[in-house]
Amino acid sequence: MNYKRLIAENLNIDGFTADEIEGFIEVPPTKEVGDFAVPCFKFCKALRKAPNQIATDLQQSVGVIPGIEKVECVGGYLNFRLDRKAFTKEVLQKVIDGGDRYGASDLGNGKTVCMDYSSINIAKPFHIGHLSTTVIGAALYRIYKFLGYNAVGINHLGDYGTQFGKLIYAYKAWGNRETVDKEGLKELTRLYVRYHEEAENNPEMDDEARAYFKKIETGDKECVELFNYFKEITLKEIDKIYKLLDVQFDSYAGESFYNDKMQPVVDELKQKGLLVESEGAMVVNLDEYDMPPCIILRSDGASLYATRDIAAAIYRKNTYDFDKCLYVVAYQQNLHFKQIFKVLELMGKPWAKDLVHVAYGMVSLENGAMSTRKGHVVLLEDVLSRCYEKALEVINEKNPSLQNKEQTAMEVGVGAAVFGMLYNNKIKDVVFSYDKVLNFDGETAPYCQYTVARCNSVISRAGEDGGFDWKDITVNDDEFNLCSVLETFPDVVKNAAEKYEPCYIARFAVDLSKAFNKFYFDCKIISTEKSQTAYRVMLTKATRYALKNALALLGVKTPEKM
Ligand code: ARG
Repeated sequence: MNYKRLIAENLNIDGFTADEIEGFIEVPPTKEVGDFAVPCFKFCKALRKAPNQIATDLQQSVGVIPGIEKVECVGGYLNFRLDRKAFTKEVLQKVIDGGDRYGASDLGNGKTVCMDYSSINIAKPFHIGHLSTTVIGAALYRIYKFLGYNAVGINHLGDYGTQFGKLIYAYKAWGNRETVDKEGLKELTRLYVRYHEEAENNPEMDDEARAYFKKIETGDKECVELFNYFKEITLKEIDKIYKLLDVQFDSYAGESFYNDKMQPVVDELKQKGLLVESEGAMVVNLDEYDMPPCIILRSDGASLYATRDIAAAIYRKNTYDFDKCLYVVAYQQNLHFKQIFKVLELMGKPWAKDLVHVAYGMVSLENGAMSTRKGHVVLLEDVLSRCYEKALEVINEKNPSLQNKEQTAMEVGVGAAVFGMLYNNKIKDVVFSYDKVLNFDGETAPYCQYTVARCNSVISRAGEDGGFDWKDITVNDDEFNLCSVLETFPDVVKNAAEKYEPCYIARFAVDLSKAFNKFYFDCKIISTEKSQTAYRVMLTKATRYALKNALALLGVKTPEKM
């Protein structure tokens, strides 16, 4: 229902199109004034009349608009009040019919959107920063699928570079399979750190490490096996976290996948006259675009991160024929993406315009200064388990007899962390606070999850309902307000996709929870009034659908009881 459109089409204002009028229509800050308002001062100049006069004239000339109950002039505004019952009826019908697909659409029409997210580095610990790209990317993935797109999730693994030669050196010198099997990434990190300590006094180690890396590239059996082993260890560990977060990928083609796909890029750049020599390196000059040159080959002939990204973009276009390709990567890499997008454009790829860097801000912990001392990073695993423990504490306090406490605490704790990451505009730097994300009365996952559990309890207490006739119903302010929020969900999902902002959905979940809780406390849902009870239970069911759908898109689970 587009009421703004409906109103605009019913107003005749000389010299203004319905589109223009629609653009002027506002939603008043309070519902007492009306549901929509046309600010008549916008037409003063053109009509050469005072706003009051314009409002009065319009009020007299506008006929009956179906769905609108009242039209009033107040202080130069023409205010419209909806027929609340008709509105409520229509919204509820739509939500209940949609059910767990309410908010979904076929807007995407099967168009393909590639998404590069998480993209972790092999043999490196996962820290809290990886949570952003992972949860933002995974949310966008679900949102695009919900809108009928064919989403392709890609984990562009950082599995290329001399650090793997160093790791092989360290492993051969001081490592063994047993410890790595047992300790996983922790041991790999230890080996890597030890390498750096020892190499400080023995710079010749670097030559050996480089040689090992070369061997990986040229397919030496032992080195490739070791490299694959490190990769396997890393993926096994991250997989546990992906499972917790309910994150999926369609491809794990990482940087090393493009080993044999970079030469054609270099050849094409050469052939198109884009490659020039600069201090021994081969670069694409981007002076004209106010950017430093994009380095394609180092002076020793080695490829770079950018080279592999250019090869990857071409590969993705050829393989998936995407309509759009998103890169969910921190804003520190703004320049990198601007450069490679420009290079692809200069190569004459018309689809370079369909590449989008979805940048996000930094995450730090509340006591970040302390926890990062001595380069000690905050591990993602520790963050999630601390959230779990804190959630368990709250549950033990609030509802000690709850069954399945551990499972619920896991869903609440992980949900809190995920939601906390998604609640702000993604470009903002955020400070992660355990107390804030786990506040059951805050703008948090637990607050929304608790609201779903409350809906569940109302619905099960109500039992079978006998239905109702709309003619017996009057819609009060709380009910109307709840429906007004419910009604926005399909647009919220669309906007979230368009702007790459899962936070719109997180905000919706909080707004809906607030509206429902107000209704819950102000109105007796289950009473002796049969029709009213059935109607209010229907409102509760609709809320539950929309809220569960919203949270599911964000990757937040909803326990039955809390
Ligand atoms: N592995 C990189 C990092 O941790 C992120 C890769 C992002 N994706 C890409 N296609 N460049 O910084």
